[in-house]
Amino acid sequence: MKRPIISPSVLDADFLHFENEVQKIKDAGLEWIHFDVMDGTFVNNISFGNLFLKSVCPKIDLFKDVHVMIANPLEMVEKFKEAGADCLTFHYEACQNDQEIFDVIDKIHDFNMKAGIAIKPSVSIEKIYPFLSKVDLVLVMSVEPGYGGQHFVESSLDRIAKVKNEIVSNGYNVLVSVDGGINDTIAPKCLNNGADVLVVGQYLFNHSDFKDRVERLLK
Ligand code: DX5
Ligand code: ZN
Repeated sequence: MKRPIISPSVLDADFLHFENEVQKIKDAGLEWIHFDVMDGTFVNNISFGNLFLKSVCPKIDLFKDVHVMIANPLEMVEKFKEAGADCLTFHYEACQNDQEIFDVIDKIHDFNMKAGIAIKPSVSIEKIYPFLSKVDLVLVMSVEPGYGGQHFVESSLDRIAKVKNEIVSNGYNVLVSVDGGINDTIAPKCLNNGADVLVVGQYLFNHSDFKDRVERLLK
């Protein structure tokens, strides 16, 4: 069985000592880093943007898993390529129609990034099925996007299993990533339901035992 990917969300990391936070990720043997970009419009919070990523990404030899919670993602694809994103995941709900979603996916691929599509817990998981043949990753939000430290929405487990089944039964090559409220109790449930990637924020950061916590997630 493939080793699950842990993608640490740095939303609640210690930005005064960001280099140390990145080193903790590497010392734990992890290869991904999750950046939560929030614009204050698509979600009622503002985090950091493409210019912050542009300043740090070139110095971080990890897979840059960028999750944009922004309106009008189509307009920002090139800027996140310039910023150093390896995978750019946008929200289904940020687009006006299916054609726009296909256009965003195509543009992300045109700029040689992996394309991810994210979906909120309140939106029917079947809404993203038409795009599974095109994307590289599906981000099943297990919290309402906008903040770290929220509680895992239990119905996400069924959504993970459903989208995984749709991917496998159609022979698509798509990673299932789960994002929000994940800890050492919830992690195995997500993996048992088919998750390939776990995005984890507050369970990992602002504690003294980062590496031990990673191991507990993967036990
Ligand atoms: C929420 C973000 C998540 C969140 C994960 O909008 O997309 O990545 O920061 O953090 P925790 O694990 O603390 O829920
Ligand atoms: Zn995220």
